[in-house]
Amino acid sequence: MTFAFSFFTTFVAANLVNEKEHGQKQHLQNMGIKPITYYLARYVIDLISFLIPVVACFVILGAARLQMITSGSWVPYLIVLLFAGFPVISFGYLLSLPFQKSQAVGQVLGVGLSLIVFIPYFFVQFVFQGASNLAIVLVGCITPTFAMERAISSIATASTTGQPYTIAEVFDIQYPVFCAILVFVGITIVHFCIIFYVESRTQSRRSFFHKNNNSKKHAEEASHPTGGALKRQDTAILVDGKYRERDAEVIEETLRLKGPEDENDAVRLLGLSKKFYIKSKKRDLIILDDVYLAFKKNECFGYLGPNGAGKTTTIKMLTGAESPTSGGGTIEGLSIAPFHDDLRSMIGICPQFDIIWPKLTVRDHLKLFATIKGVAPEDMDAAVDQMVDEMGLGPLGNKRAKTFSGGNKRRLSLAMAVIGCPKVVFLDEPTTGVDVAIRQAIWNSIRKLKKTSCVILTTHSMEEADALCDRIGIITNGHIQALGTSQRLKNTYGAGYKVIVKTYTNPHLVTGEMERTVGTGRVTLVQALGSSLEYELTRMEGERTTDMLAKLFALFEQKRKELGIEDYSVSQTTLAQVFIEFAKEQAAPEDK
Ligand SMILES: Nc1ncnc2c1ncn2[C@@H]1O[C@H](COP(=O)(O)OP(=O)(O)OP(=O)(O)O)[C@@H](O)[C@H]1O
Ligand SMILES: [Mg+2]
Repeated sequence: MTFAFSFFTTFVAANLVNEKEHGQKQHLQNMGIKPITYYLARYVIDLISFLIPVVACFVILGAARLQMITSGSWVPYLIVLLFAGFPVISFGYLLSLPFQKSQAVGQVLGVGLSLIVFIPYFFVQFVFQGASNLAIVLVGCITPTFAMERAISSIATASTTGQPYTIAEVFDIQYPVFCAILVFVGITIVHFCIIFYVESRTQSRRSFFHKNNNSKKHAEEASHPTGGALKRQDTAILVDGKYRERDAEVIEETLRLKGPEDENDAVRLLGLSKKFYIKSKKRDLIILDDVYLAFKKNECFGYLGPNGAGKTTTIKMLTGAESPTSGGGTIEGLSIAPFHDDLRSMIGICPQFDIIWPKLTVRDHLKLFATIKGVAPEDMDAAVDQMVDEMGLGPLGNKRAKTFSGGNKRRLSLAMAVIGCPKVVFLDEPTTGVDVAIRQAIWNSIRKLKKTSCVILTTHSMEEADALCDRIGIITNGHIQALGTSQRLKNTYGAGYKVIVKTYTNPHLVTGEMERTVGTGRVTLVQALGSSLEYELTRMEGERTTDMLAKLFALFEQKRKELGIEDYSVSQTTLAQVFIEFAKEQAAPEDK
């Protein structure tokens, strides 16, 4: 029995680590669920689950008509087993702390716990020569299932010798059973003290022991770190060993944010820096370097950057899941470092990778997040219905999420982020892997959302950023490289024009003719996909665009046959081309 119940500890630990592994625990805590609430909810569920093997145990023993059951009352057994459930479960929580992968829990604890159970058993049985009360206390502290076994065998022995335990004797300090019960309660308290201590140490920014009394002060300090003065690195940036003038709007934004607060800013990043220490390379990986940036109320801000630029890390810092290395910021005037607890109900997060609970339905998810965001019970159904309609999740409303396709999981993640109308919503690649129709629905939701909230959107779709974002910031190598409207970025950083020519002749012929027409050095063949040639055409200072385009059109029309031209088109530089230029500068992780 001891061995059997020790597996329940492993089961409980594996479940907890599974939630950690899939980000569910962290996500709930980011949304404002305190560790104590989280553990309490799990504890209730696990205690109910614990009743299943307990009942099964009695059914089996009763069916076998064992003397230990038939010769006395089963109530003392039940009392012991129920009390034993407390530490069996809390022990699992404690043991789960160092694990990150649920598979490892099964492998390590499955074997390890059997040993831990056996060692005290061996000592009591062969070294102490029997179970004294002291022995139960000592070894029970190491393994609760052992204390449980001692108490059960004490009741069984009493029953079979014709002196079964009365209920009063179960709670009498003279008897080993009560001693075991005290051990159960005592070690459960000890387990939870350790668990909450570890939680508060490892996640000190989200610790429920931590009072953010000085957060306002911290935010004020952070908003005037250099008394409004610009430093050298605020105006110039080191690229390949040379200083390059920074983007004018980035400089302006930095200067503005070093000044007084602006009530139009929903989110302010104030000298935000983040680096990770890479053990294998024995050096720091710089993700953000003294970034000043604001996201305004009722705007959709496109936070763009190549893979590994630090977009998700920035979102994590702004939502309390990571702490900055230095600097800080505010959301609606409240500090993000340390992370102000009141912020949790004010923000919505659609994480890059879906965090959903496979056994819950769409409506369950939405109710859970609406409750976290403070939607009143009387408004709950209306809020859930509205979200289900808006995201087109109607047919899936009462289905469990484990059956959902990738696109539907994404829609659900977005709905969970948006429900309750949070003031600031972080959308980390919300349309990745969704079909065109779902993407359109998501775009419509985002357009609607920015009427009430500040939306921070990361995406690798330049089309999406162009269509939705009021302003865009491109981040590479820890710095905001360019900032402004999509149009400004195209005008400032775009080479000029994109020309697409469909031809069945040699591309060099077309390139040569184009160069002769508009001038050498202005035509770059960006890519050739089959018969489709994509050129970039550099703009010349003071040149009349219409003249240059007229010459080009004349060339294509006059030499259509000679150059084998089937079709052609000319457009202004796209955001994608601007982005690619900056993305080229992003250092590969190994160079960072
Ligand atoms: N906990 C961590 N420890 C060490 N390095 C980390 C950690 N978290 C992230 N990184 C590194 O930080 C860099 C930025 O990661 P991040 O996920 O923020 O990039 P991203 O811009 O969101 O990229 P993507 O577009 O691929 O989602 C990456 O090189 C990543 O490997
Ligand atoms: Mg990311």
